[in-house]
Amino acid sequence: MDESTYLHGTAPEEQDRLSLLNELLNDSALRLLELRGGEKILDVGCGLAQLTRAMARASGTVVVGVERSVEQLADAKKRAKRDHQEYLIDLRQGNATALPLRREEWGTFDIVHTRFLLEHVQDPVAVVRMMVEAAKPGGRIILQDDDHDVLRIYPEPEGFYRLWSAYMKTYETVGNDPKVGRRLVQLLHESGAVPCRNHWLFFGSCSGHPHFRLYVNNLRGVIQTGRDAILSGNLLELSQYQSAMRSLEVWEQRPDASLWYAVCWAEGTKNA
Ligand SMILES: C[S@@+](CC[C@H](N)C(=O)[O-])C[C@H]1O[C@@H](n2cnc3c(N)ncnc32)[C@H](O)[C@@H]1O
Repeated sequence: MDESTYLHGTAPEEQDRLSLLNELLNDSALRLLELRGGEKILDVGCGLAQLTRAMARASGTVVVGVERSVEQLADAKKRAKRDHQEYLIDLRQGNATALPLRREEWGTFDIVHTRFLLEHVQDPVAVVRMMVEAAKPGGRIILQDDDHDVLRIYPEPEGFYRLWSAYMKTYETVGNDPKVGRRLVQLLHESGAVPCRNHWLFFGSCSGHPHFRLYVNNLRGVIQTGRDAILSGNLLELSQYQSAMRSLEVWEQRPDASLWYAVCWAEGTKNA
């Protein structure tokens, strides 16, 4: 059983950040998913289940979502109810390393998907193996995750990369991999699936674009979730943390500021 730490937590402001992130990313994720309709889908580590619901709308089927956190699940249900979309999802509490599927459900899913989960577990191969088990022969296994090392913000705010590197180290401190995105194809291969496609989903913006502030706020929110771990792990002094966050504020006012990031995507199939 993987009891790894979920660093972002489930505070309301963090759930709002996750929700906004979904709005910014889900359209491009859906384009890459190329759903034809009628697919039986499992979403592992579904969080607030916004993408889970979007997949259900696109496929016209009820999508099964698995989530470990009781708080996230409660919020996911609340949001689905608010939007009158509870009928789209079958949410189940459980761990990605011991999926709560009924005996007859194993080996039957057309698509088994996960996003932003593998960076939070200590044994990503164990999770992907489980996902392959859940897929039907010929089914698609789709992994989306972060490689935090690809972030570029320019012109470089003073002290920012030292802060970003400290943030990445908080993952390593609890046994997780902040660069798991670059390993996705390998994880598919090691888990017995046959890799067939990889991609990057652009997730960046620049000054002058109406969404620029949303991206910067997301970046700030991500770093703030790691603040306590950065300071308690002595990865930075408080003064260094504060000064780098201030430089980020100054940077975002620049007319030439740009933020470059991309989410890693990899797809494989289960041998028929
Ligand atoms: C960053 S969120 C991503 C949620 C969703 N996939 C999305 O893209 O919006 C990661 C989610 O994985 C959940 N999680 C972490 N470890 C898990 C595990 N071992 N099994 C199931 N869920 C887990 C967390 O509680 C959190 O809700």
